[in-house]
Amino acid sequence: MCGIIAYIGNKPAHDILITGLHRLEYRGYDSAGLTVMDDKKIQTLRSVGKVANLRNKVEGEWKDNSKASLGIAHTRWATHGLPTEENAHPHTDMKGKISIVHNGIIENYKQLKSKLEAKGYKFHSETDSEVLCNLISEFYQGDIEEAVVQALKHVEGTYGLALVCSDEPDRLIAARKGSPIIIGIGNGETLVASDVSALVQYTKQVIYLDDNDIVCINREGITDIFDMTKTPVSRDVQEVDWDLGAAEKGGYDHYMLKEIFEQPEAITNTFRGRLNYEEGTAILSGLNLTPKEMVDINRVLVFACGTSLHAAMLGQYFFEDFAQLPSNVNHAAEFRYRNPIVERNTMAIAISQSGETADTLAAVREAQRKGANVFGVCNVVGSTIARETDRGVYLHAGPEISVASTKAFTTQVMVLLQMALKFGRCHRLSRSEGVKLCREIESTPELIREVLKEAENIKKIALKYKGFDNTFYIGRGYMYPVALEGALKLKEISYIHAEGYHAAELKHGPIALLEENVPVLALANDIDGKDKIIGNVEECKARKSPVILTATKGDDEMKSYSDDIIWIPKASAPVAAILTTVALQLYSYYIAVARECNVDQPRNLAKSVTVE
Ligand code: M6R
Repeated sequence: MCGIIAYIGNKPAHDILITGLHRLEYRGYDSAGLTVMDDKKIQTLRSVGKVANLRNKVEGEWKDNSKASLGIAHTRWATHGLPTEENAHPHTDMKGKISIVHNGIIENYKQLKSKLEAKGYKFHSETDSEVLCNLISEFYQGDIEEAVVQALKHVEGTYGLALVCSDEPDRLIAARKGSPIIIGIGNGETLVASDVSALVQYTKQVIYLDDNDIVCINREGITDIFDMTKTPVSRDVQEVDWDLGAAEKGGYDHYMLKEIFEQPEAITNTFRGRLNYEEGTAILSGLNLTPKEMVDINRVLVFACGTSLHAAMLGQYFFEDFAQLPSNVNHAAEFRYRNPIVERNTMAIAISQSGETADTLAAVREAQRKGANVFGVCNVVGSTIARETDRGVYLHAGPEISVASTKAFTTQVMVLLQMALKFGRCHRLSRSEGVKLCREIESTPELIREVLKEAENIKKIALKYKGFDNTFYIGRGYMYPVALEGALKLKEISYIHAEGYHAAELKHGPIALLEENVPVLALANDIDGKDKIIGNVEECKARKSPVILTATKGDDEMKSYSDDIIWIPKASAPVAAILTTVALQLYSYYIAVARECNVDQPRNLAKSVTVE
């Protein structure tokens, strides 16, 4: 998804902007560009493809001579128009005075464009952002801040933006509505970014803008933050709690592999200080609910997208099994379009790694409109969903850079398990059952380490199956969402067509596809449902499908049902679901590497999907 970095200070801006763009690469993009303000002149360079192309262009054309110390830059993920140089940001207005970078979507850009065209404006791109730039230009009468306010009043849609104006060469303006903007406060310099990871190299002191905020910055720092009525607003300076090292690969070939191997630590962080062994419950102060309020909650509504949706499905099992709470999982994208019923005493939970997913955010707002208390389960601190939800629990998984979500999934599952434990203890879960669950949670990091030790075996199996174009993943009970997640991971990073199915559903249609070129990965761990899945595996074998099993270590009879086995340590069902997911992440990773895919930035995908 698009990324923004901007700089005003006393150092050459292009260096800092290019470095910032590299930090934003993990988000996914298809073109990049930057503008620097050189002695009252706007100088822009843009290029299609990787930031490295832009860097080469900058080095070639400016030969490292640019001393300009104010600039804006952008990585674009195409929404309006193809990924071309003309459509890449920054965009400049027709008069060549204003240059803008923009994330989000201007929904009424066509109407605005027609009006501007009628006034003689000419456009060089297909983008909504160029329209916004010219709209600001239309209102410009010597005060850029005033022009931005006036223009934004005519805009419907979302924006995170940064801009410069050649008539005011010492000012940087940024604004936000529905797309994150963060201000980094440095020593004699100020940065603006859409993502903290572009800032941490330069400063840990940040301000998160709220929707409708506009910020004006000069070489001394921030001069004003105000809202659309020009009323000053005050925003706290916060300290970012992760450093650059946490956002780099740490010696692994890919971020994805690093993040898979980080899971024991990430999971530990989700429960550190949150388990009360004495009472057999979870603490989770972010929920901020009294026992009475918890008892009053009689239904759980969960919404999320993609991998987070699979975590939500496991959460549904947890809430039903441990807390006896009726639960519904919803595709966030569908939630507000089907007029959902939100009853009194419903707890809604939004799950999102990034906290910026547009569909999930829309579902949060819909649930709030209907009077629900919405709780956020997010990883990115200060993200929009984290801030807009009434209360919630952070994952504390650390930055997840690879587009394919790994540690976010397992930590989401862990947080949901703790939530179910806490609610369970207000309902029918006994103290001893609660203590048992605490112990299981606590044992998970060590068991994940055991799975990670299987990496070489998993790699061997992956190499054997790397050439197949289709794969089915089947599971039952807790292993059904894991099958869905395993299949999603394989298709998104290796481009192999993979389907996750409930094992019992196979015979209702998809079994027609099975043959010797279609392997089936069956999740046959020794938990509830194993006996039934053995029957389903037999059905697959009878159609000549090669069968790979995940099975519990020591369950040797499973060898006779499979061509290959991935062994998973013995564990309770919720923990087994996490362990099996880790094994499937490794399986997808090794296949993707063997197929020479771009593991961390798969084609067509973005890390946070901020469009509906
Ligand atoms: O940031 P979120 O958890 O809200 O993101 C939701 C999905 O876009 C995300 O999980 C996506 O499916 C990942 N690429 C999966 O690996």
